[in-house]
Amino acid sequence: MSVQDMGLKSADRKRVAQGLTRVLASVYVVYVKTHNYHWNVTGPLFQPLHGLFEEQYMVLAKAVDEIAERIRSLGYRAPGTMQEFLKLSHVQEEGSEKAPEAEEMVMNLQRDHEAISGAGRKLIHLASEAGDDATSDLMTKQLEFNEKTAWMLRSFLTPAASVNSALHTQALDSAN
Ligand SMILES: [Fe+2]
Repeated sequence: MSVQDMGLKSADRKRVAQGLTRVLASVYVVYVKTHNYHWNVTGPLFQPLHGLFEEQYMVLAKAVDEIAERIRSLGYRAPGTMQEFLKLSHVQEEGSEKAPEAEEMVMNLQRDHEAISGAGRKLIHLASEAGDDATSDLMTKQLEFNEKTAWMLRSFLTPAASVNSALHTQALDSAN
């Protein structure tokens, strides 16, 4: 049975669901990446990063469930295959099967969380304009987590690495 009337225009409901779909895919890709890093991190930062990545993937696992269920509440199918996630995601997997160095893992995740924050912020505006307070609220919580996580990851980096990361982020932004 389809959604009859939840007080949202059907075009708005569709646009919000599409935005949620891309955020869901992005969060799922980062969930898998964070789990991979939890398993494969090596070096002097092993202990703190192994633990930090675990805390993060636990939150991400809960987040994907809530986002997917919001898409269902809006009357749309939630994507649920890795193929779809990779196609829809705002962030990418690394091409190589080789685990990056610990510091590079931190930089990659920082960049990914920042990218999701950017997409999440746009979606909050879209949902607010559509009068979809539930999505707006869910995305606000998601944005808060992504921004806080990006800050925590940034705090792990040496000053030189932070500069490189900032340049990298800038380059990605200007390419859009
Ligand atoms: Fe574990």
